[in-house]
Amino acid sequence: MSVVVRLGYVGAGFMAQKVHLPNFTNLAGCQVVALAEARPKLSEMVAKRFGIPKLYRHHSELIADPEVDAVAVSAHFAAQGEIARDTLLAGKPVFMEKPMAVSVEQAERILEASRKTGAPLMVAYMKRYDAGYELAKEYVTKFRQSGELGRITLVRIHYFGGDWICGLDTPFVSTDEPIPQPPFIKPAWLPDEHVQRYIGFMQQYVHAFNFIRWLLDAGDDAKVILVDLDGDGYTGVVILKVAGVRVILETGSLRHHRWDEHTQVYFERGWVHMWSPPLLLRNQPAEVEVYIGGERHEYLRPLPKDRWSWSYKREAEHFIRCLQTGEPFRSPGEDALIDVRLCEEVYRKWLGL
Ligand SMILES: NC(=O)c1ccc[n+]([C@@H]2O[C@H](COP(=O)([O-])OP(=O)(O)OC[C@H]3O[C@@H](n4cnc5c(N)ncnc54)[C@H](O)[C@@H]3O)[C@@H](O)[C@H]2O)c1
Repeated sequence: MSVVVRLGYVGAGFMAQKVHLPNFTNLAGCQVVALAEARPKLSEMVAKRFGIPKLYRHHSELIADPEVDAVAVSAHFAAQGEIARDTLLAGKPVFMEKPMAVSVEQAERILEASRKTGAPLMVAYMKRYDAGYELAKEYVTKFRQSGELGRITLVRIHYFGGDWICGLDTPFVSTDEPIPQPPFIKPAWLPDEHVQRYIGFMQQYVHAFNFIRWLLDAGDDAKVILVDLDGDGYTGVVILKVAGVRVILETGSLRHHRWDEHTQVYFERGWVHMWSPPLLLRNQPAEVEVYIGGERHEYLRPLPKDRWSWSYKREAEHFIRCLQTGEPFRSPGEDALIDVRLCEEVYRKWLGL
């Protein structure tokens, strides 16, 4: 890979304009050389704003461009996995938005393409790149290894959300061109009437599954134990076993001016508690509280070294750095497949299938 990674970007919608193009175009070591977008008017406006020299209508033309070293994609959830697959088949590394796939079967096909050519896939799970969460993970790992707070008795993830955009004033342009709605292959077992609910649940809670597996270094050691959801297929409680630890995920939505999501790892004699920032609130890492019970009996409010930092910018930096150094991705495609499996498990349990 050249010292400067020449990036092609696919999809010029909300996430591209608000998050990924501002981040990638401002990174030393990365040059955004081409944009593919199905809506030509939008494509021109966005390319002009970000100074992207080459425009393509279809992602296959962008992938074939020899001046494109790697591809980033944020498109419709049903399209982005297929775009990633086509890119991997062409032997080029991919940075893609979550979810990587709507079914394990689709995820396997994408990974097969990666294995065939050796091109790596990174799924943009920004929580793993949050400086506050990195710090929280250091504490969780230290206490697990030392045993000084006893064993973990419970992890509670409260994840209702709220206003995730938080007034982010990066300009956003739109046109009257219709957004392509690609057909997608749903999991074979999923009844048609539950498809929208399943996608809604998946869009949000793949983040929680991916995050907790990372926090506990669980890898594939994660399964769904119990599911209790309302008729909306979204609001309720999911109990998981992750690396042998009981994890309660509280799901639901809330009209909230901030972002209501926090995770508490309970040990026998203390906890590590962490609060997600509103997602698009730039330069605000997660907050961390450590309670050490027993003899010492104290609260700590540690702050990350990377003080004013944004998880989405750090994930873009990580992608470029890994391509330059050969370092493995922190959120690789093979690992992201497990989150798709957990979504399938939740819905199968909920539907009694
Ligand atoms: N990580 C996060 O916090 C987060 C937040 C929101 C959305 N997302 C994910 O980001 C993805 C994109 O979301 P968005 O809000 O930007 O969507 P969007 O609809 O605003 O933008 C997608 C763009 O892709 C274009 N497109 C679709 N198919 C294409 C193709 N084959 N070739 C070229 N262009 C194509 C569309 O015309 C559109 O402009 C979604 O899959 C979603 O799951 C992630």
